[in-house]
Amino acid sequence: MLPKSVRMVEVGPRDGLQNEAQPVPAAVKIALIDALADAGLAVVESGSFVSPKWVPQMADTAMVLAGIQRRPGVSYPVLVPNIKGLEEAFKSGVEEVAIFAAASESFAQRNTNCSIDESFARFAPVAERALAAGLRVRGYISCVVACPYEGPVAPADVAMVADRLAALGCYEVSLGDTIGVGTPAQVLAMLDAVAPLVPVDRLAVHFHDTYGQALANILASLERGVAVVDSSVAGLGGCPYAKGATGNVASEDVLYLLNGLGISTGVDIDRLAAAGDRISAHLGRPSGSRVARALASK
Ligand code: HMG
Ligand code: MG
Repeated sequence: MLPKSVRMVEVGPRDGLQNEAQPVPAAVKIALIDALADAGLAVVESGSFVSPKWVPQMADTAMVLAGIQRRPGVSYPVLVPNIKGLEEAFKSGVEEVAIFAAASESFAQRNTNCSIDESFARFAPVAERALAAGLRVRGYISCVVACPYEGPVAPADVAMVADRLAALGCYEVSLGDTIGVGTPAQVLAMLDAVAPLVPVDRLAVHFHDTYGQALANILASLERGVAVVDSSVAGLGGCPYAKGATGNVASEDVLYLLNGLGISTGVDIDRLAAAGDRISAHLGRPSGSRVARALASK
């Protein structure tokens, strides 16, 4: 059965923009985040406190957070890989942070310069201090279907990492097909391995759309009871540590699907598409959203 409502988690300003080679000015990021919140999104991931040597585009996250108009009821989470990142997040007054793990050792090494076990040794004090300070902590898992360096990833490996994130106190675990290769049968096998350990009402799905399978995977996940979907306005993005991977599934496309299914989200498609069109114009390319392009040509 399909959920009656879905929480859309907008990751464009972080997952989308982190991969842009040219620096995007803080003012443009701020306008994007505010426009997304105005469109009705209740979660707008707004940056990350990671090493600026690793991801230079996110180096101005503190400035961005200082400039946005925080709307009541809207959450503006940021990624933090370690205590240093968490301390920066505290200074910026965030209410939610996300820690990010991988289901494959090679990706953990490339993305965070450590093994999966080492990453959990870092996350444990981050989660503990964040929770003690009253923040909410979300957990991400990369490579839930396949790894760009190792190939297919076993569902049991994903389940183990999900269980570890939940044990640290993550209220939700977002399952990321980082390189966008999965098809519904693989996604369902993965969800069926994870759900006995972390219940489906604590799971989110996070699809990159490299092979055009994201909407099919989302529909399959909704039918399994998942009710939280990550997406990126205008399909922005890619991953700096997953060569060739495209952006996340476009938020406008996800919203069109959900609207068509009668699933409520609280998001306005015209305002969302307008926000996507503005950032695409800034980046000098057409929107990566099929729905946004169709709406613009009407
Ligand atoms: P490291 O080099 O092993 O760290 O990187 P280190 O502790 O040895 O520190 C090295 C330098 O980085 C030092 O500076 C630190 O101060 C600095 P130096 O003394 O050389 O001048 N540093 C920091 N600076 C600012 N903020 C920090 C921070 N930490 C250290 N928090 C580290 C390890 C984890 C820091 C690094 O690998 C890193 O920053 N990785 C982040 C990679 C990243 O952001 N990837 C993208 C996000 S994940 C993703 O996109 C996937 C997802 O969307 C789901 C999916 O699709 O799969 C979530
Ligand atoms: Mg991602």
